[in-house]
Amino acid sequence: MDHFTYKNGELHAEDVPLRVIAEEIGTPFYCYSRATMTRHYKVFAEALSGLDALICYAVKANGNLAVIRTLASLGAGADVVSAGELERALAAGVPAEKIVFSGVGKTGPEIAQALDAGIMQINVESEPELEAISALASARGMEIPVSVRVNPDVDAKTHAKITTGKRENKFGIEIERAPGVYKRAATLPGIKLVGVAMHIGSQLGELTPYRTAYKRMADLVERLRVDGHAIDRVDLGGGLGIPYFDDAADFVPPSPADYGNIVRETVGHLGCRLLFEPGRVIMGNAGVLVARTVYVKEGETRRFLILDAAMNDLIRPALYSAHHAIEPVSEPVSGAARAPYDVVGPICETGDTFAKERLLPTMTAGDLVAFRSAGAYGATMASTYNARPLIAEVMVDGGRFSEVRRRVPTREMMGFESIPDWLDGAADPARKAAG
Ligand code: LLP
Repeated sequence: MDHFTYKNGELHAEDVPLRVIAEEIGTPFYCYSRATMTRHYKVFAEALSGLDALICYAVKANGNLAVIRTLASLGAGADVVSAGELERALAAGVPAEKIVFSGVGKTGPEIAQALDAGIMQINVESEPELEAISALASARGMEIPVSVRVNPDVDAKTHAKITTGKRENKFGIEIERAPGVYKRAATLPGIKLVGVAMHIGSQLGELTPYRTAYKRMADLVERLRVDGHAIDRVDLGGGLGIPYFDDAADFVPPSPADYGNIVRETVGHLGCRLLFEPGRVIMGNAGVLVARTVYVKEGETRRFLILDAAMNDLIRPALYSAHHAIEPVSEPVSGAARAPYDVVGPICETGDTFAKERLLPTMTAGDLVAFRSAGAYGATMASTYNARPLIAEVMVDGGRFSEVRRRVPTREMMGFESIPDWLDGAADPARKAAG
């Protein structure tokens, strides 16, 4: 359930008409509903009631400071995958002791930053990384809690680009090799082995892969305990899918409650603290992308709805052929005839297509549309391709709204660049000296 609904003939975010935001700040923009993200967080937390659970929100889904702050104030920790996300989580008020650092390629400076911040744990994905953490932590005279991310070799049955738990994926350490890696890790200074971690993919539409993977993790915990390791944390990752389709019957993702039951059934008996890293299930349907129609172009065979949003603002359709429901912001009259539109952006490549032959009521230039389910992996994956300004973000709370990231104009982006004086033919003293 979300709080984007038609009222008085217009699509609202909570009590604010999206048209009003568009008039005030221009388009395109992302709009998040505080009530929706709060609801999603609470439903997820409720599903885990009775368990010793900590929800570490996956910042990669939406790293806006206001979003992280909203979730942090509900008790969420954070799952971060870069020094940048760590900085964001801390700046938004997530306590360091609720932050877990995941990712396959943490650099030395990133590990150092995490150690200095005193985060809860690092999830290690390879043996060389283990050595690097050990060296940096022991040089600081500290011990950092570490979990090893294990690859349970389970097919998450999701899009190939976001499946992570198969042996051939780059993530984690193969489960068969885990006991040997723990044995080695236990001898390394600066490393305090506390648990196991996994994440098998994103946008999971079924619970069976979770059940299989979590059982494998439970077996591993028992085996590691027999080997003498004090394992008391299990990080179960994120990945729960959400409905993206206008017609919910097309895809009904598992409910958080059913997911919670799988957790209880598979790892509930271990007596471990359980960490969760949900991103999309909290933020996906808590955000929309609002764009304005620039032109309607009638072709011989196609009718194009040309928007002022493009693939640089929302790349999921271009990258994953992802489907986002598209709704006119002005409520169509009931029973209005619908016609197929190719919904596109202005960028100079055919990949800049949001939808093909999407059935929409008659649209004209100036009309606003909203892309649903755009709260996760929308703004965080936005770029400035074609020198388009970095998109604005807005958060709504009841009847009020604020811009939580203003549009970043090209002029400011250019401020990060410079033209070397030698490009303008000015003498280069170093070269001159070299002859
Ligand atoms: N934990 C780890 C270690 C992850 O790699 C991810 C997502 C998550 C948690 C959160 O997964 P979620 O609950 O949001 O499914 N850009 C893609 C999704 C990439 C997901 C990457 N990892 C998309 O737009 O669909």
